[in-house]
Amino acid sequence: LTGQCLSKDVTRGGAVVSLREITADTVRAICALETSDAQKGFVSPNSVSIAQAHFHPTARFKAIYADDTPVGFIMWRPAEEPDACYLWRFMIDQSHQGRGYGRAALQLWLESLTTQAIRMVKTSYVAGDAGPREFYRSLGFQDAGEVKPNGEWPMTLAL
Ligand SMILES: CC(C)(COP(=O)(O)OP(=O)(O)OC[C@H]1O[C@@H](n2cnc3c(N)ncnc32)[C@H](O)[C@@H]1OP(=O)(O)O)[C@@H](O)C(=O)NCCC(=O)NCCS
Repeated sequence: LTGQCLSKDVTRGGAVVSLREITADTVRAICALETSDAQKGFVSPNSVSIAQAHFHPTARFKAIYADDTPVGFIMWRPAEEPDACYLWRFMIDQSHQGRGYGRAALQLWLESLTTQAIRMVKTSYVAGDAGPREFYRSLGFQDAGEVKPNGEWPMTLAL
């Protein structure tokens, strides 16, 4: 996932989903991507995530595109275990949800990890109506124990 543009054409509408580097020219468009108000408790604004990444040198992030339209954002960092990775932030803009972009983007990202000797993906979610748990479960993630001190529930996926 370094530099190059990865793409996948598996969405229902036939759009090609890709993960692209964010640049000075595109950062405002990526920061303008938003979830619905009801989803705001599930993920931080992209501007906050990009600012946080500045203080976490091992964090990586990409914009998600459908064809040439920016539709979402993904951010991750190494987990404690050397062969594991933590999916930190993931969102599709409210006006682009439900078209298969989230699934395609996550599959694309997971495929890129297997070529980097990553064997386990961890994440955690905030419970709630329309929360992302079922989305992650449909991609193979499993619940992985007790609620964390920050109130989030852990999930894991073995690659
Ligand atoms: C979760 C999210 C990324 C899914 O993106 P999306 O592009 O709408 O998802 P897709 O269209 O690829 O849906 C893939 C599958 O998951 C299902 N799904 C998507 N969101 C779901 C939800 N909140 N609850 C239950 N199922 C969901 C879809 O029905 C679809 O199933 P299908 O393939 O069998 O039809 C998006 O809803 C989002 O940004 N949510 C708010 C932020 C968030 O919760 N992020 C994760 C926490 S870090």
